[in-house]
Amino acid sequence: MTLKDKVIIVTGGGGLLGKEFIKNLKSKGAIAINADINIKTDYEKNNLFVDITSEDSIVEAIKNIISVYGKIDGLVNNAYPRTNDWGEKFEDIKYESWQMNVDMQMNTTFLFIQKVMPELLKTKGAIVNIASIYGVVGNDFTVYEGTNMTSAAAYSAIKGGIINFSRYLSSYYGRHGVRVNCVSPGGIFDNQNEIFVKNYENKVPLKRMGNPDDIAPAVSFLVSDEAKYITGQNLIVDGGWTAI
Ligand SMILES: NC(=O)c1ccc[n+]([C@@H]2O[C@H](COP(=O)([O-])OP(=O)(O)OC[C@H]3O[C@@H](n4cnc5c(N)ncnc54)[C@H](O)[C@@H]3O)[C@@H](O)[C@H]2O)c1
Repeated sequence: MTLKDKVIIVTGGGGLLGKEFIKNLKSKGAIAINADINIKTDYEKNNLFVDITSEDSIVEAIKNIISVYGKIDGLVNNAYPRTNDWGEKFEDIKYESWQMNVDMQMNTTFLFIQKVMPELLKTKGAIVNIASIYGVVGNDFTVYEGTNMTSAAAYSAIKGGIINFSRYLSSYYGRHGVRVNCVSPGGIFDNQNEIFVKNYENKVPLKRMGNPDDIAPAVSFLVSDEAKYITGQNLIVDGGWTAI
């Protein structure tokens, strides 16, 4: 895959999915930068502190990447900031909490992309926004039956917004050779409640939850030159969840 020496930023690269994205990108020759709020900057390890909810922090991070690595070829918007009350039942969600999550998860996608775009225009780079099946279809709440789990309402608005915003960007920047796509994972196994896992596995055609290494190859592909004629798309990697 044509990722050799490509400088790719992965926001939230220290998380459940982000770690595997970094690993997969590196395995294909990329210089994958983990841009996360939960790390100290260490250029030897390609670790960079960034708070995606802060414009100053984003601008500083991009400046530092350019001074150390000289260019930016790709951005994977994957970080997942959320409030402490994230995932409350719809009736109980406070308006301020809704606003804050939309701001931290969706509006930051706009901010990072706007700030990095001048660099991507120079390299004819690519963006992969991590969305979700819940940005494509409504929730099947039967999978939560017998548990106290639910799914955050704002998530649907945020991920649906990110998917269509990606189409806007693909159209706006297509003539300049910058590609913008989404990857939408299904539910990823993370030692959730056993009843939930069973319910989920029962519904999904491939009969299991996803693993981070199911998703990572799709991200590497879309950010690479192998996908040079693909833009404005949402690649759903969900074991068939949205096929039925
Ligand atoms: N886990 C799933 O089942 C699943 C399914 C579909 C989509 N997704 C999406 O995948 C992405 C990653 O999810 P995950 O499960 O790996 O999440 P995670 O919580 O494991 O990791 C998120 C990472 O983002 C970092 N982060 C949080 N706030 C930040 C900030 N302000 N600035 C920079 N970094 C910040 C965290 O430190 C962490 O390393 C998210 O966009 C999520 O919506 C996840």
